[in-house]
Amino acid sequence: MNILITGGAGFIGSHVVRRFLKFYPNYNIINFDKLTYAGNLSNLKDVEDNPKYTFFKGDICSLDDVTNAFKIHNITHVIHLAAESHVDRSIEGPLEFAMTNVVGTLNLLSVAKSFWNEGEHVFHHVSTDEVYGSLGEEGLFMETTPYDPRSPYSASKASSDHFVSAFYHTYGFPIKMSNCSNNYGSHHFPEKLIPLMIGNIVNMKPLPVYGKGDNIRDWLWVEDHASAIDAIFHKGKIGESYNVGGLNEWRNIDLVNFLCDLLDKKLNRESGTSASLITYVKDRAGHDQRYAIDASKISAELGWKPSIKFEEGLEKTVDWYLNNQDWVDEVTSGAYQDYYKKMYS
Ligand code: NAD
Ligand code: DAU
Repeated sequence: MNILITGGAGFIGSHVVRRFLKFYPNYNIINFDKLTYAGNLSNLKDVEDNPKYTFFKGDICSLDDVTNAFKIHNITHVIHLAAESHVDRSIEGPLEFAMTNVVGTLNLLSVAKSFWNEGEHVFHHVSTDEVYGSLGEEGLFMETTPYDPRSPYSASKASSDHFVSAFYHTYGFPIKMSNCSNNYGSHHFPEKLIPLMIGNIVNMKPLPVYGKGDNIRDWLWVEDHASAIDAIFHKGKIGESYNVGGLNEWRNIDLVNFLCDLLDKKLNRESGTSASLITYVKDRAGHDQRYAIDASKISAELGWKPSIKFEEGLEKTVDWYLNNQDWVDEVTSGAYQDYYKKMYS
C-alpha cells in the first residue's frame, strides 16, 4: 500500500503519519505537504530516517504537484488532512480557505480518480464537526445532522465534504469521511486555544478569552483521533461518514482556569497567579456556541473509543509544551509574529 497523507507536517497529520509507520511497517507513507506556517517538518524528526517514510513538498491546489506525487509513488490510498484550519484566520481572509480546502480537495479527488482505474483504493477525507453549525444547550451532532456551516472555515470544509460525497455518488469513487471535534495534544500550533493559553501562562502574558468564555467545545486527545482515522481507514465502509468525539464538553473559561491551576502547581506559583492574567476580549465574529459529538456509530460499528481521560491528556500536553520550548520558538518565529501582534495587541 502506498499512502499519500496530505498535511502530514501539521498537528493531526504528524500524529497520523507516526501512528501508521508504527503499526503498519509494510506500508509506504508519503507525506505530501506545502509547509505553510502550520506545517513543520520538525514535527516528524523522530521518523524522518524510517525507510518507509518519504516527504514530498507540494501544494494540493497544483495539478502538477499532485500528479507527480501519484506518478512517482504509485499512490494507491489517500488520507487527506491538508487544509487551512484556523477559524480566526478564515474570518480575516476567507479566499485562501476556499482555495486550499475546496479547490485543493477537488484537485486531489480529480487526480486520484484519473489514476485509480482498477484495484482497491481508499480516499479518506478528514473533516470537522464545525460543518454542522452550532448547538444550543441540548443535543449532539450526528452523522445525519444537516450541514449548517457558519464561519468561512466551516463553509470551506462543508463544501469540500460535499465534493467528496459527490464523487462517491456520481462516479462510485471509493471515499470515506470523518468529522471530528476539537483535538488537543503535542505539536498543536500555538495560535489555537490550548497551546496559546499554555504559552501565555508560562510567559505571564494576558490570556485572551473571547466573549463571556461560555462557548463549549468537545475535546479529544489527538492520538485518539489518529486511532479513529486508522479504524475508519481500515474497517469503515466505503461511502460512509463517521463522527469522532470525546464526549468531553468544556466551557472555554473552565478549561482556561483548569490550565491556570495546573500550571500554578507545576511552576510553583502561588494559587491564583495565572488566573489573574485572564482577560475577556471582543468575541469572535459569528462565534459558534457549542459543539458536541455523538460518536455512537464509530464506537458500535468499528469498536473505537477514546483511550485517555481529559485531565490526564491535558497534563501530558502541558508537560510536552514545558519540555519543548524550542519547538514553540521555532514555529512561532517569522510570519506568525505579525499575525499574533495583529490579533492580540
Ligand atoms: P494544521 O493547520 O495543523 O495543519 C495543516 C497542514 O496542511 C499543514 O502541515 C500545512 O502545511 C498543510 N497544508 C496547508 N495547505 C496546504 C496545501 N495547499 N497543500 C499541501 N499542504 C497544505 O491542521 P490540523 O489541526 O492538523 O488539521 C488537519 C485536518 O483535520 C484539517 O483538514 C482540519 O480541518 C481537520 N480537523 C482539525 C481539527 C482540530 O481540532 N485541529 C478537528 C477536526 C478536524
Ligand atoms: O471543532 C473542530 C475544530 O476545532 C477544527 O475543525 C478546527 O480546525 C480547530 O481549529 C478547532 O476550531 P475552534 O475554533 O473550536 O478552535 P480554537 O482553538 O481556535 O478555539 C477554541 C475555542 O476557544 C473557541 O470557542 C474560541 C475560543 N478562543 C480561542 C482562541 C484562539 C478564545 O477564547 N481565545 C483564543 O485566544
